[in-house]
Amino acid sequence: MQISATANPAPVDDARLAEILANPGFGQHFTDHMLTYEWTPQDGWHDARVTPYGPLTLDPATAVLHYAQETFEGMKAYRHDDGSIWTFRPEQNAARMVRSSARLAFPELPVDEFVACVDALVEVDQRWVPDNSAGGEGEKSLYLRPFMFASEKFLGVRPAQHVTFMVIASPAGAYFKGGIKPVNLWLSETFTRAGRGGMGAAKTGGNYAASLAAQREAIEEGCDQVVFLDDQEFRYIEELGGMNLFFVHADGHIVTPETGTILEGITRASIIELAGKLGHSVEERKFSIDEWRDGVVSGEITEIFACGTAAVVTPVGELRSPRGVTAAPASTELTMRIRDALVGMQFGRTEDTFGWMH
Ligand code: COI
Repeated sequence: MQISATANPAPVDDARLAEILANPGFGQHFTDHMLTYEWTPQDGWHDARVTPYGPLTLDPATAVLHYAQETFEGMKAYRHDDGSIWTFRPEQNAARMVRSSARLAFPELPVDEFVACVDALVEVDQRWVPDNSAGGEGEKSLYLRPFMFASEKFLGVRPAQHVTFMVIASPAGAYFKGGIKPVNLWLSETFTRAGRGGMGAAKTGGNYAASLAAQREAIEEGCDQVVFLDDQEFRYIEELGGMNLFFVHADGHIVTPETGTILEGITRASIIELAGKLGHSVEERKFSIDEWRDGVVSGEITEIFACGTAAVVTPVGELRSPRGVTAAPASTELTMRIRDALVGMQFGRTEDTFGWMH
């Protein structure tokens, strides 16, 4: 695989870049470059190139615009205090894109090529990776968004014969405006996001589109995110609009909803291992909405937290629904310990005993 570089860079000037990096928000500003890699049945994956960041020109009949054949990933690059730049388990994102691609009838992008594409963009746009060594909020990173879409101009419903993989990057601060404080959640009793045999475990735009009507309800109810239940009984917790959930019990054990119809978060998988190392067993099983409500009221559940690449680890506050409010759990102590362990490793402040940093 050869990746060609642009001959016409048009970088943002240093003063503007410093302004953006001081207060990046989430998903609002984009780096100087983007990476593109194309696939056809005749040529396979070909023509990997880094070019100046800019709009795409798409034919109105481009298949993704009609049938949503698309997958994406979310990952981050972190600058350590010595200036070096690292990503976190990128091969896991690559492997998940392979699984998502299989579900969306895309060709497979090999893991090493996915990682090489991400590395190439981070390398060329490295000045966009925020430096946290001067203190401040201290957890800024460069959010990386690899994605694949049906770029064939064709309105027939079948797997696309022209596919485009791209990587773009965006400096990121906290996902939630309030920073690290408990987020209130809205329980959707009307909408589900996934069903058996569906696409719930794939990272595809359609799953996020399916969450938006419920997310709008959540916002109207003054909540930050929506909780989805299973589609069969409306009883078991699945996940939030864009994050997985963990429930900490009084005896220290932790429960997280089992996979199948939910997104297999890389932060989720890492926390299962990390919590084990901190002496907390994690059970992956069905977890009902009654267990949540009763557990918080009785004190059996002491903490709840949400996690994802964008949100990192965020304590959960109140659960609201048409049937009333379940209070915030009593503590955030273990949540913050897990958060610190993960973030410490990502930013190179604690030892990476797992060999997760790349
Ligand atoms: C992520 O955490 O990276 C996600 O993909 C969730 C959301 C921002 C779509």
